[in-house]
Amino acid sequence: MTVVALVGTQWGDEGKGKITDVLASQADVVVRYQGGNNAGHTVVVGETTYKLHLIPSGILSSGTTCIIGNGVVVDPQVLCSELETLSRGGISTDNLYVSERAHVIMPYHRVLDQLEEAQRPWKIGTTGRGIGPAYVDKYRRIGIRMLDLTSPERLEKALDQVLAFHNPLLQKVYGHPGFSKSELLEEYLEYGRKLAPRLADTSLMIHRARQQGLNILLEGAQGTLLDIDHGTYPFVTSSNPTAGGAAPGAGLGPNQIDKVIGVVKAYTTRVGEGPFPAELHDATGQLIRERGREYGTTTGRPRRCGWFDAVLVRYAARVNGLTGLAVTLLDVLDVLEEIKVCVAYEYRGQRLEHFPTDLDVLRECTPVYATLPGWQQDLSGVKSYEDLPPQARGYLEFIAEQVGCRVQIVSVGPRRDQTVFLEPVLAP
Ligand code: IMP
Repeated sequence: MTVVALVGTQWGDEGKGKITDVLASQADVVVRYQGGNNAGHTVVVGETTYKLHLIPSGILSSGTTCIIGNGVVVDPQVLCSELETLSRGGISTDNLYVSERAHVIMPYHRVLDQLEEAQRPWKIGTTGRGIGPAYVDKYRRIGIRMLDLTSPERLEKALDQVLAFHNPLLQKVYGHPGFSKSELLEEYLEYGRKLAPRLADTSLMIHRARQQGLNILLEGAQGTLLDIDHGTYPFVTSSNPTAGGAAPGAGLGPNQIDKVIGVVKAYTTRVGEGPFPAELHDATGQLIRERGREYGTTTGRPRRCGWFDAVLVRYAARVNGLTGLAVTLLDVLDVLEEIKVCVAYEYRGQRLEHFPTDLDVLRECTPVYATLPGWQQDLSGVKSYEDLPPQARGYLEFIAEQVGCRVQIVSVGPRRDQTVFLEPVLAP
């Protein structure tokens, strides 16, 4: 029995979906513990590409139980439509369960997300899916939970409370007409009816799975630098994608997490605004964007691309307690003659080894690069670590040394069979 948390170590989009999908075939239970449909997973199975935003990518492995944990904010409309898409593709969703404690994203959250973003002088670049406002209501203690969708009386009471708060705000501040209780009641009770068979005390399910000695994968969405506490605030999401968030978000104790695997791209990308020291504004950045298909799964936005930033991943290793790295998209660098790694920042003549808190400092940091030779070979067919050219192994070893964490998995393409395990992650 092993409980593994899988987290993003950069600004999200590290390829967690693919690594989860590969590990899910060895896991009995996959749990998402935070975020909502702001995430996007692209998983390729055979010739088919699946884009999922909410449902854990483990759903594509038959026999794996998938859980949307209490720490996730759930948009029932999106959940129902993803369930339909999967069913149409012949994928069974019978094993998908949703925590009855998970908070619901309501239409007013989506509207508020977009209105608030439009009104901000500096843009966070939110996905506009209502994630932030849904978490705000959770902490304001006027949120609606999945369980509430199954009771007309409770949902009506909850809507009375929340609309009394949001409608005047929408009407007086934003000139929006507001939301009708009866319409929301009708639509969301219908979701409640559809989803009721999947609602469960998922913490108890996870507890029982542990007692049975099953392998459990806790899947984080977004990444460390988007974490509300440890990320580049305020250019962050509203939850804790870091491994610490996995315990309350899934409903288990922190001492029950055996390993923490950090998924890391062989380079760096970022969607949305905020400082990014190793960003490339040149042809190499464009080449990485095209070869890595670096366009958002959720919004289609082109991602900003740059070299591997060891300062940033060293920080991620610290705040997540990483026990291993899964390096993804190594093949994207195949054509490069030389590859740079940012090993430190320079700030006003000072060398910084650790990621700064102050974004004004980060904004002024320039990268200190080490230059390594490229391998200029196609890695997409590589099946074992020994098959990698020496320059590629050298690159991985350099990253591991800089970050202070072992590389356990290397991904050289989007397919499941393009994955090299250096060490087993889940117990057989
Ligand atoms: P929100 O989570 O929609 O509120 O967006 C807040 C910030 O997190 C924005 O910069 C988004 O672009 C970013 N973000 C949210 N989810 C993801 C993701 O899955 N990948 C990358 N960036 C994300």
